[in-house]
Amino acid sequence: MKNLEMPNNSINVFDLEAVAKTKLTTLAFDYYSSGACDEKTLSANMTAFQDIWLRPRMLVDVSNRNMTTTVLGQQISAPIMIAPAAFQCLAHAEGELATARAADKFGTTMVLSTLANYSIEEVREATAGNLWFQLYVYKDKGVTRSLIERAEKAGYTALVLTVDSPLLGRRERDVRNKFNLPAGLVCKNLIGNYLEQLPAGSNDSGLASYISSLYDTSLTWKDLTWFKSITKLPVIVKGILRGDDAARAIEYGADAIVVSNHGGRQLDTTIPTIQALPEVVEAVDNRVEVYMDGGIRRGTDILKAIAFGARAVLIGRPFLWGLAVAGQSGVLTVLEMLRSEFDLSMALSGCQSIGDITPDLIASENRK
Ligand code: GLV
Repeated sequence: MKNLEMPNNSINVFDLEAVAKTKLTTLAFDYYSSGACDEKTLSANMTAFQDIWLRPRMLVDVSNRNMTTTVLGQQISAPIMIAPAAFQCLAHAEGELATARAADKFGTTMVLSTLANYSIEEVREATAGNLWFQLYVYKDKGVTRSLIERAEKAGYTALVLTVDSPLLGRRERDVRNKFNLPAGLVCKNLIGNYLEQLPAGSNDSGLASYISSLYDTSLTWKDLTWFKSITKLPVIVKGILRGDDAARAIEYGADAIVVSNHGGRQLDTTIPTIQALPEVVEAVDNRVEVYMDGGIRRGTDILKAIAFGARAVLIGRPFLWGLAVAGQSGVLTVLEMLRSEFDLSMALSGCQSIGDITPDLIASENRK
């Protein structure tokens, strides 16, 4: 494997998480690392990958390997994208700017969260790379519409509509910490709408209170038609875990789907994403691209997701650990670590290109 420059001798994502823990406040580390309730889905997202066995092909010429692919027509250097993650200045002063620059250097797409600490425009100006904008839907349709218009005007190339969060999952570590943003940090995209601050003095997670008072809990499939009618951008639906929902998303105009359980942060004990993926891929039947996130920590996880039919994966916590440890270069290190592990997995399973990563690489008992 290529020797990467690894902060604090970290050689994998788990090492970086341990270093990040020493650098972050408890409030920040808990916010990024925690899941809902008993964190069953949080851990199952990872262990589900370990329960899947590979059937590598031997004696294939793997002297030249190509990891590049495309997402909605945009080339990326490996099937790894940056998932939307809120409040990145909790990890590093340069927050989302550093992440966007690292994604560009690596050659991939970053999804900017509605709840970013830098604005849509600031992040766009920081990099020439491909950016998608993740949308949370506010009750105030004017706020939602203005976020969409700003993303479009700034040159973001897709909207990622998160559909699993009408309310925030019960993250007990955040409840205990009474999670809120430290002085000076705000939701920069909402400045001017008086929505930039999380409510203070709540006996709950400040984010949970914010979301329960401001997000539209009445959202249904027909709203997807509304989004499609007010934007020229492709709309990607994120948070799908069932084949019938995937089919419905396409019926209402979704241009792509992200199989996601929000990193185990919403409804605890939901199915691990790698287990939900085959059903969604089957229902989608190649009509749109399917991506997945949740539990990606190793190159073999990426190989398995692709073998099950994902076009690409998105990573969340791993890049946040890199960001906490070394800002932009830390994020780049994480992306390179995973690409390097993925490259090795391709070589050792007899794959020259992404197209060679087919379902038969997975043990038959894991394909049922
Ligand atoms: C925000 O999207 C979160 O999951 O905390």
